[in-house]
Amino acid sequence: MKALVLIGGFGTRLRPITYSIPKQLIPIAGKPMLYHVLDLLPPEVDEVVLATGYKAEVIERYVRGHMPAVRVQFVEEKTPLGTGGGMRNAGDDMSDPFLLMNSDVIAQVDVRALLDLHRRSGGVGAMTLTEVDDTRPYGVAALGPDDRIVGFVEKPQPKDAPSHWINAGVQVWHRSVLDRIPRGRALSFETEIVPGLLSHGIYGFRSRGYWEDAGTPERLLHAQRLLFDAGRGGPGRRPPGASGHGPVAVGHDVRAEGAEIGPYSCLGDGVVLHSGAHVENSVLMDGVTVHAGGRVVGSIVGPGMEVAGGVRTENQVLGTTPAP
Ligand code: GDD
Ligand code: MG
Repeated sequence: MKALVLIGGFGTRLRPITYSIPKQLIPIAGKPMLYHVLDLLPPEVDEVVLATGYKAEVIERYVRGHMPAVRVQFVEEKTPLGTGGGMRNAGDDMSDPFLLMNSDVIAQVDVRALLDLHRRSGGVGAMTLTEVDDTRPYGVAALGPDDRIVGFVEKPQPKDAPSHWINAGVQVWHRSVLDRIPRGRALSFETEIVPGLLSHGIYGFRSRGYWEDAGTPERLLHAQRLLFDAGRGGPGRRPPGASGHGPVAVGHDVRAEGAEIGPYSCLGDGVVLHSGAHVENSVLMDGVTVHAGGRVVGSIVGPGMEVAGGVRTENQVLGTTPAP
């Protein structure tokens, strides 16, 4: 079986870091977002097709250097085609059925059970659904008998949302749905294609495990807490001379003598925390330095950045903005 992973998109909500790094390579609880998504794949998946666009070469270089256990194929879009166009462009050789994964969801989903539901139901697809309070940023399903999806609205106003069950970004589809996507233009699968497939049978798979879309800074840090709380973060040993408690993920060659590494922190390779620095509920990518007495809380700091000493950096996304 193949899995098609959508990995285009500009990651605008995580700028300025995403000017230089695609969001899927931002580490969460010790490894890049994309690799948490790949962890969900069941063993019967033997090939992953990455539908890339923005920063395709950065993704390809990283993945080739950190090969997952399955075979990987890269299909790059020269211009962004949206979720539907990306599926069409990368879907020429899909298995039947195939999995469709968004690359920015941090979740606990029983993909095997999703596949079983799809096989039993006889429909053209099945969509993992998760229950959220605020449905505005998501695609929302209306459910009929046997959890057949009878309506689907992408990013509705609250008054138009038919339920609180949203598309969790983990789906299984019959290969024939790809033939319904027009070639060569940008389009949204969720908006332009899914509604027309409802009459052919799409079933909702209600998942009650943790779930988050890590596409904004707040949600990325929330996803990191979910992973740590589920025991999926690490490696979690603080470097010599550092204090602190609570779950952390610490890369290679981190120096933090006299610093405090608080709970829910992810430090990349080569991070340096000077004496009296404090980090908590944050992601510090490779090579970040926090000067003496600097406090970093609720923030995501891009590779190689220097954080000022003696001041508090809170709820920030720090990275380099390219010159205009
Ligand atoms: N190949 C390709 N090309 N991939 C793309 C493109 C593109 O032009 N645009 C976005 N993607 C990828 C993103 O990298 C992400 O993995 C996935 O497609 C979804 O795009 P987002 O931009 O993150 O969409 P969203 O979060 O607003 O909404 C989607 O995800 C929600 C769950 O997180 C929709 O699928 C919603 O229905 C869903 O509820
Ligand atoms: Mg998203």
